[in-house]
Amino acid sequence: MSRAASVRFEKVSRLYGDVRAVNEVSFEVQAGTLVTLLGPSGCGKTTTLRLVAGLEQASSGKIFIGDEDVTALGAAERDVSMVFQSYALFPHMNVMDNVMYGPLASGAKKAEAKEMALEKLALVGLKGFEGRLPSELSGGQQQRVALARAIVLEPRMLLFDEPLSNLDARLRRKVRDDIRDLQQLLGLTVLYVTHDQQEALAVSDKVIVMDNAVIAQQGAPHDLYERPQSRFLADFIGESNIIEGSFSTSGADTLFTAGGVTLTLGSVAFKPTDKMIAIRPDRLKLSAGGDGAIKVRRRAYVGHAWEYSLDTPWKGELLAIAPARHELVEVGTSVALTIDAGSAIPLGR
Ligand SMILES: Nc1ncnc2c1ncn2[C@@H]1O[C@H](COP(=O)(O)OP(=O)(O)OP(=O)(O)O)[C@@H](O)[C@H]1O
Ligand SMILES: [Mg+2]
Repeated sequence: MSRAASVRFEKVSRLYGDVRAVNEVSFEVQAGTLVTLLGPSGCGKTTTLRLVAGLEQASSGKIFIGDEDVTALGAAERDVSMVFQSYALFPHMNVMDNVMYGPLASGAKKAEAKEMALEKLALVGLKGFEGRLPSELSGGQQQRVALARAIVLEPRMLLFDEPLSNLDARLRRKVRDDIRDLQQLLGLTVLYVTHDQQEALAVSDKVIVMDNAVIAQQGAPHDLYERPQSRFLADFIGESNIIEGSFSTSGADTLFTAGGVTLTLGSVAFKPTDKMIAIRPDRLKLSAGGDGAIKVRRRAYVGHAWEYSLDTPWKGELLAIAPARHELVEVGTSVALTIDAGSAIPLGR
């Protein structure tokens, strides 16, 4: 679909009375890419999406679709299509009529609308379901009808608001991958809202993490995971152990001291303002030994790995994930910790 357009926000805010739902947000979604808005409940994701769709008007700032300033345009003039969590299918119309509705309403002849609908239903894997009512379909199939209906008019941009939240885990993964495949096949521009970080990492070219109405960080999935810039990000994307303490150096090594225990981080650059580290549980190695400062409190077998909770002399437990076939360490044992060189992430906030 070569009509795919980019979208750009320049310091866009949306206020409801005193509530700043979106606060001076700037980002760009390049044409033909899938970008995810990710963040906790109430952080402003849906409002941002509705601002793109023209279902909300910006209180300040500018919104561009392609080169066009659409800030003052209404929803009907923006040529974007939105898929909701609830699917919003017409319950009394069969699958065919649901998908044909858009083309007919915008003036297509019946035969033409039918051809357009059949083509899109085939793309989403629903050939043969044309005569069914929405109530005669599974949740995943209803979601596909909603998808076919959203792409039938070949919009410049497709918006999804938590499209998978009504589906069970297995189906979520399937539909998620189907949306990504379709987006790449048709070269669509997609802005996708979710609060599931796994989903966001899996399907996105870029992830925009929001917190409290502002953008906390944006980047490629790999960047966000490897280089979180704040405690919030380190916690929100993947799992992290956060340890507060102080940095020092010894030769080429950076050392980190917390609760009287000094950890060797390898060659890690830190700033004078940094006051904690984030460590992914799978970058920690443990072995029986040490001086008793760190002990195994709990051990859980989760199939592909063992998860260890460790008692520490600083505030909070430490979570270590070891491959299922490592040498087992018993509960109550004192352990020595090794951190994969270069994998600790120094943070200032
Ligand atoms: N019409 C409205 N009037 C007043 N406040 C609103 C309105 N719509 C949203 N808000 C507020 O704006 C903030 C952002 O809401 P928004 O729906 O964008 O969050 P969200 O990130 O989509 O959350 P969720 O993950 O729960 O869907 C919230 O504090 C919400 O209460
Ligand atoms: Mg929402």
